[in-house]
Amino acid sequence: MLADSQTPMSPFSQRSRHDLEENELTRALTRAKERGEVLDLTVSNPTTAGIAPLSDRGRLALASASVATYAPLPFGLPETRAAIAASTNDLGISLSAEDVMCTASTSEAYAWLFSLLADPGDTILVPQPSYPLFEYLAAYQSVRLVPYPLRYDGAWHVDLPALRELRAREPRARAVLVVSPNNPTGSTLKADELEAILDLDLPLVSDEVFLRYPIVERATPLLSALTATRGLVFVLSGLSKEAALPQMKLGWIALAGDRALHDEAKARLEVLADTFLSVGTPVQAAASVLLEDAHLARDRILARTRTNLATLDRVVAGTAATRLHLEAGIYATLHLPAIADEDTWVHTFLDAGVYVHPGAFFDFHEGPRVVLSLLTDETTFARGVGTLAATITTLVG
Ligand SMILES: Cc1ncc(COP(=O)(O)O)c(C=O)c1O
Repeated sequence: MLADSQTPMSPFSQRSRHDLEENELTRALTRAKERGEVLDLTVSNPTTAGIAPLSDRGRLALASASVATYAPLPFGLPETRAAIAASTNDLGISLSAEDVMCTASTSEAYAWLFSLLADPGDTILVPQPSYPLFEYLAAYQSVRLVPYPLRYDGAWHVDLPALRELRAREPRARAVLVVSPNNPTGSTLKADELEAILDLDLPLVSDEVFLRYPIVERATPLLSALTATRGLVFVLSGLSKEAALPQMKLGWIALAGDRALHDEAKARLEVLADTFLSVGTPVQAAASVLLEDAHLARDRILARTRTNLATLDRVVAGTAATRLHLEAGIYATLHLPAIADEDTWVHTFLDAGVYVHPGAFFDFHEGPRVVLSLLTDETTFARGVGTLAATITTLVG
């Protein structure tokens, strides 16, 4: 059958339509790898980064006898929810197991919350720059993302006037999303920003997967939106980052804010969760041990990210590049001189044998920036940034 325009009707939905063409950078990366060694400074998989996050106790717990029984509970096993709730004690928070809902990942949590809060065509206010996956997660739920800016003036801030203005002129805004610490800026939500966001009178979804990765040492834990006592607040995290175990596929949503709003949120989410029942039993049975041991992997990651950041600062110090301020997470951003555009810089680095993410990948729009993963092993990282510095010096003259 032909549509009016005589174009063949596609059997596929608009929301599953993506540009499937390999982009030029991916092709250039393949060519560079064919030519020789490429130092990859975009490493994000902790299970292959020489960190060994799974403890022997964790392995044993995954093989325990209790994994043989299936208990199809929409929000997960009570002991799993209790273990997740107890894991927030180190933040000085007292979370009830009743307010924890297990998901297979943070991505699944986003999908559920977009379904819970928004209808097709509604909008979600999201930070920019931030996590590139939002675009896809939103497309699959047929919701629209409206970015609110994070501004840089030597430190990162939520542009609150811009956010308030967006809220006022977006009648279909259904939620505001916060990523704290943010990927890739490494910036964190401050108490006054949290209050201003709660004042917007929209449900708040706070992604806190990197909360326990403060690169800059501090005496107190980073602020969690779990401390909010008003509004409808959903805090997301999971073993993927908290325990550096993305393969376990256990994430969660924790409810905070005004308790009077919780009952209906839970009742609706329960039907959603019951429709999928996606979290496996073995990981739920092992969750308390995996969470108890998570600090071991985190300590190794923090030691690495801090070493790599110190290396980066030392090497970049004599060049025309600037490392942007950061507080937490696993990424660092370099601002480069505008003698070349961002694409040119990234391809020039690749020609020199180093692969970095262009800032555009995370929706940076302020001049040439590249993002480096501090999770990269120390030797590769030091060699990689050494090459970046030499390339910058050669280009700038
Ligand atoms: C901000 C942020 N949230 C969530 C995730 C992924 O979490 P999950 O593996 O639980 O989907 C990532 C992964 O990089 C991330 O950067």
